Amino acid sequence: MNLQHWADALNSHWGITADLRRLDGEYDLNFMATDTDGTSHVLKAMRPGCEAGLVEMQVQAFQHIASHDPELPCPRVIPALDGATMLSLPDAEGVARLCWLLECLPGKCYAQATPKTPALVYEVGAVLGGTGKALMDFQHPGLERDFKWDLTGAGWIGSEIDSIPDPARQSLIRAIDTEFANLEPVLTALPKQAIHNDANDYNIMVTGELTAPRRVSGLIDLGDICAAPRVCDLAIAAAYIVLDHPDPEAALAALVAGYHSAYPLTPQEVDLVYPLLRMRLAVSVVNSTLMAAENPDDPYVTISQAPAWRFLEGVEIHPGLLSARLRAACEMPVVDGAERVMQWINAERGNFANLMGEDLAEAPMGSLSVENSCWPQNPFHMPLAEAARVGEEFEDGDTIWLGYYHEPRLIYAEPAFRKGPYKASNRRTVHLAVDAFAPAGTPMYAPMAGEVFVVENRTGHLDYGGVIILRHATPAGDPFYTLYGHLNPECCSRLKIGDHIEKGAEFCRLGDASMNGGWAPHVHFQLALTTQGIEADWPGVGDPDEMYLWRAICPNPAALLNLPDEKCRYEPTSKEEIRQGRRDHFGGNLSLTYADPVMLVRGWKHHLFDEWGRPYLDAYNNVPHVGHAHPRIQAVAADQLKRMNSNTRYLHPAQTAFADKILSKLPDHLEVCFFVNSGSEANELALRLARAHTGAKGMVTPDHGYHGNTTGAIDVSAYKFNAKGGIGKSDWVELVEVADDYRGSYRRDDPDRAQKFADLVDPAIAALQQRGQGIAGFIAETFPSVGGQIIPPKGYLPAVYNKIRAAGGVCIADEVQTGLGRLGEYYFGFEHQGASPDIVVMGKPIGNGHPLGVLVTTRAIADSFAKGPEFFSTFGGSTLSCRMGKEVLDIVDDEALQQNARLMGADLISGLKALQEKHVSIGDVRGMGLFLGVELITADGSEATQICSYVKNRMRDHRILIGSEGPKDNILKIRPPLTIDSEGVEMILAALDSILSEVAQP
Ligand SMILES: Cc1ncc(COP(=O)(O)O)c(C=O)c1O
Repeated sequence: MNLQHWADALNSHWGITADLRRLDGEYDLNFMATDTDGTSHVLKAMRPGCEAGLVEMQVQAFQHIASHDPELPCPRVIPALDGATMLSLPDAEGVARLCWLLECLPGKCYAQATPKTPALVYEVGAVLGGTGKALMDFQHPGLERDFKWDLTGAGWIGSEIDSIPDPARQSLIRAIDTEFANLEPVLTALPKQAIHNDANDYNIMVTGELTAPRRVSGLIDLGDICAAPRVCDLAIAAAYIVLDHPDPEAALAALVAGYHSAYPLTPQEVDLVYPLLRMRLAVSVVNSTLMAAENPDDPYVTISQAPAWRFLEGVEIHPGLLSARLRAACEMPVVDGAERVMQWINAERGNFANLMGEDLAEAPMGSLSVENSCWPQNPFHMPLAEAARVGEEFEDGDTIWLGYYHEPRLIYAEPAFRKGPYKASNRRTVHLAVDAFAPAGTPMYAPMAGEVFVVENRTGHLDYGGVIILRHATPAGDPFYTLYGHLNPECCSRLKIGDHIEKGAEFCRLGDASMNGGWAPHVHFQLALTTQGIEADWPGVGDPDEMYLWRAICPNPAALLNLPDEKCRYEPTSKEEIRQGRRDHFGGNLSLTYADPVMLVRGWKHHLFDEWGRPYLDAYNNVPHVGHAHPRIQAVAADQLKRMNSNTRYLHPAQTAFADKILSKLPDHLEVCFFVNSGSEANELALRLARAHTGAKGMVTPDHGYHGNTTGAIDVSAYKFNAKGGIGKSDWVELVEVADDYRGSYRRDDPDRAQKFADLVDPAIAALQQRGQGIAGFIAETFPSVGGQIIPPKGYLPAVYNKIRAAGGVCIADEVQTGLGRLGEYYFGFEHQGASPDIVVMGKPIGNGHPLGVLVTTRAIADSFAKGPEFFSTFGGSTLSCRMGKEVLDIVDDEALQQNARLMGADLISGLKALQEKHVSIGDVRGMGLFLGVELITADGSEATQICSYVKNRMRDHRILIGSEGPKDNILKIRPPLTIDSEGVEMILAALDSILSEVAQP
């Protein structure tokens, strides 16, 4: 290809000096022309003999779009120096070609953009809709084209279906073709206009890398523009959007809603999207089958069909339910007449027969929401014993109480409610009915006349038992349906499908737990405006992220109970309101994790739940050491609070029991305990002890360390005092380099690195001595955590301790992060080092969330301290704290959690190392047990701060909470409660694998 020839042409006719690069193109020559200041254009030299009208039509269409909606990201046509938008120029062989020049839009093509979030797909729809709107009145004689890509003429495939070799595939395509033929009258009756007609995933450009939001930056290539109903344009884009999309229905909803927002559709058009999408895919596969026959040696032709076949053969979508979904996404009635049904029901409120035989206006509401209730104790398992008691706190004699519509609940705990393989996969939580709790046997009366549509006994675990669905019709003839679940199944022998039920007739009774699926007696009363796609098996609860659909199909049935909607509808606490409250009432440096913060209201072991009941795998929080909401911790707290809670000025056996338990885990020379309320307080006290014992003030500590938020603790926390706006280093503190053998001064290939890092302490000691501070001691997180989850080389700490002791100082091991079994192999980090500290500090995990800090030291150091004033901490060592602390340590032993940390940690490390082989962004995998770091790097090996932030936020999208650390914040911190299991490990690895693949995209 003679690039110079075209570069010269560009220069002489457009006055642009640029480097040219050939772009893909089936028949035409397309060049990317980048000039010296980086501006790019696309030079198009059409195939010889190309009709001028075709180019002229595209040029005019682009100009039309630009003048009608300049905001749309469609390229501008750049006129030549003589003002012409199209020139006939000879190519290098002297053959005339029509040439034109377009602005080059930024970004990469949609096919390569990841992730394809609903927000991005919505924007694709909005840009396509906006373009459609701009082209509405565009006219050109060339628009009436007779070509294979005009979807209205797609029937041409009918005579070619036999060319598909596989008979099953033939009949699939034939069925689509027949369905299309049936729709043709509707389609041809729709108005035609100019449409883009080829919004495939290479014609849509997307900007936004890593944490920048993905935005549609271009809709290009009008080569297939033609006149057709605008829904064809949408269906063609839809046909590409769904391919290999993990949630094609959600993607379609986002696309259609986006289009509708820019260029409102009719319900009839919305209903056409799916059949037309299928027909477009049918055209694609038939076309490529024909091409494959022509080019038998080109394997690409067959490969390119694969995603379309995967969708057509493998994805099951109920067209009726999809129609409801797409209509709901556009805020249209889910079926024709649905709005009339709701108008009638609302108008009749107060006139319906009372379902429970009495007026419910005064009936109390009882909330079973994620936020308000603890049913069930284990949100992943609802035992029958608990199900039969659900809501017992609201029972008051025979008074009927009601359960909310639109309430997220955790009582639907079985895997059937999950939408993925993991406990933390999305799950259906939001109640789509109103419940009436009343004694078993309570009779029920039809609110209005109806016909039995379903009557069944569903005997599955925690299913409905007896269930009836009635079909009704408004006086205008619009149908709707009501469901009554958890009935006495005697109705099954009495009623049959088609039976007429009079308004106010008693037609069923509440079942008891032995017959209603196992629940406390109540009726689940649900309204539906369509049964398409749900038939007899309605979901009683919906995915919180799909409520736009389920609220529309199953609206609040309050009116049918003669109740106001507000009484029965639940709304979870608004996250935004709480966020605003924090802004109003808290300091600006109280930070929140995640671009979109999470509000967490329930937990269980290593999982947490937000206000909508969305589950998260907690791979970050080390405070709930033995797991969130541990029943033994709950029990011990409640038990002690029932008795008394006092302080260490009085004797109590819990104090010594706790001390004995801690000391049983430590070397013999550590024999005196101090109980305080936090890690900060324990470190603050450690500084006082060191000073009391040595009479000196100077402290040596590794860089980037963290020991707490109190004045003294901050002074030894370079992570804080050296942070932006920090107070800087005090003159009694000397920093030494962290013993990081991945990125530090001495690397893993140096066998003497432990000693070399330790030797860095010598100048620090000398500096303090020189300044007259003396050496009170050395304080370090045994394995630096905020410094980047670093495991110092073995022997480092003993070598440092020797030097400190030789200078008269004491050695403080901050085991807040590393202690109590988290490391798997070791109960404390200093054991790994073979070091023997003089003071050990414990915090966070020792209370499992209860504020608790512990310092343990030698008798000699304690005696030096005892020479000073009395030591007292009001709450440190309270009776409750001592009971809680001991219980945590007992649970670690009883449940073999240290052992679990070892096993799960080993699995995580080997899985992460396997990911390191696959993903260049992983520079290092390090850690021990469940104290792990994954260092992310860029192509040149430097710290990948942005990638790390991206991965952390995307992990949250995948429902996994992890952290990030390190001086450059490029190290993923994995530090779950010690209860994590193989399923959790697998989930972390799978999510990380998929997210790192997004980062690797070109
Ligand atoms: C190593 C280390 N020491 C001390 C502290 C301070 O503990 P607290 O927040 O309980 O005061 C922390 C807290 O993150 C820590 O990680």
